[in-house]
Amino acid sequence: MSFSQPNSLLPVPLGAFEVPGQRFDEMSVSSADAEDNAPIYFSLVIPTYNESKNVKAIVAQLSQLLDNKIPGDYELILVDDDSPDRTWEVAQGIMADYPQLRVMRRQEERGLSTAVIRGWQVAQGEVLGVIDADLQHPPETLLELLGEIERGADLAVASRHVAEGGVSDWSVVRRVLSRGAQTIGLVILPGVVGRVSDPMSGYFMVRRDCIAGKKMNPTGYKILIEVLGRGSIRWIGEVGYVFQERQEGESKVTWKQYVEYLQHLLRLRLDRWPVGRFFRFGIVGFSGVFVDMGVFYLLRTVLGLALTRSAILSSEVAIINNFLWNDLWTFGDISKRQPGNRQRFKRFLKFNLICLMGLILNVLLVNLLFNVFAVNEYLAKLIAIVAVTLWNFWINMKLSWRVTDVQK
Ligand code: GDD
Ligand code: MN
Repeated sequence: MSFSQPNSLLPVPLGAFEVPGQRFDEMSVSSADAEDNAPIYFSLVIPTYNESKNVKAIVAQLSQLLDNKIPGDYELILVDDDSPDRTWEVAQGIMADYPQLRVMRRQEERGLSTAVIRGWQVAQGEVLGVIDADLQHPPETLLELLGEIERGADLAVASRHVAEGGVSDWSVVRRVLSRGAQTIGLVILPGVVGRVSDPMSGYFMVRRDCIAGKKMNPTGYKILIEVLGRGSIRWIGEVGYVFQERQEGESKVTWKQYVEYLQHLLRLRLDRWPVGRFFRFGIVGFSGVFVDMGVFYLLRTVLGLALTRSAILSSEVAIINNFLWNDLWTFGDISKRQPGNRQRFKRFLKFNLICLMGLILNVLLVNLLFNVFAVNEYLAKLIAIVAVTLWNFWINMKLSWRVTDVQK
């Protein structure tokens, strides 16, 4: 990366789309190397495809702006996907004039979102950003975005939909498509898309810490959704901007991007559902049935206890069994972060209470379905079991194994 001839291209990372944590120079022992690999404040990725006519202008404007604000403490990483118009070559040609500029030429992969992540993977900045190359994102807004980060935001997004924001000259069709895409996103992923006013924005910056070590899996254009969906983002700052008209070259958006956007939303949706946990919870629940029956047999037939007493006691033993396995296995990762017997006992009490409420819910549901809606008794019972399993899983996940006061 560093013992480079002038104008050399950046290596293209392979494998997983995962941004590493900041490398505090343990690798750069030699001093010549240290200079190049030293961590810096800000890395800005400029994804390009057929932008040869825009490269010089965008690099010049960004450099001027950032040289003023954070001289020497930033880098511009242009990631080109082997453009037919040889954008990467044009960029290489001006590297001598702009020492902060680095260039990557991808020949194996394509796509805006993955280009951005590949760029971030070689970046050295503590803050990672992205901006379009076609000057539709006004460079000055960068300073406001940096200001949000300095104020403590984890993520700073340039938005067309807050005060001072807008689009310049869009047709009704494009406005409707853009808003429609946002609405679909809100329906499929409200907890992600709903967090910002302009989830379609491709102009933002994020603290490296918030996405380091997270496996990304983006498709298509909307990298911000991936960052929101997989990063640990608490504070979000938004800055208004007006989406400019393109002067040179043309947009790459076709119907294909809409399809990819939908695929992207659905994939994130599935990944966010705790499928594996639910599966484990189900297995544990199943084991509980046998514990319940076994203990019931022991108390009732072997020891000759009364029916009700045997039933209550065996249920409680099953609840304890389920709790232990869930605490160890289903939610083991979370229990580990809340160590100590006191904490475990608290989780157990909550679990017990929630399961008890589940039991009451079960009885109420069967009655409601059968008596009010005239559903077949067995179907009613089946529906109740499914509903109560979901209840038990979801509420326990949200309350019993919720990570609250843990040190990070
Ligand atoms: N490396 C790479 N690979 N870059 C790409 C690719 C690709 O496959 N496709 C597009 N780009 C680059 C373009 O060269 C440009 O710099 C930027 O990504 C945006 O592409 P445009 O085709 O100009 O997109 P747009 O103007 O229609 O849409 C933009 O508008 C949204 C509105 O806020 C996108 O930038 C969105 O990110 C933005 O949010
Ligand atoms: Mn554009």
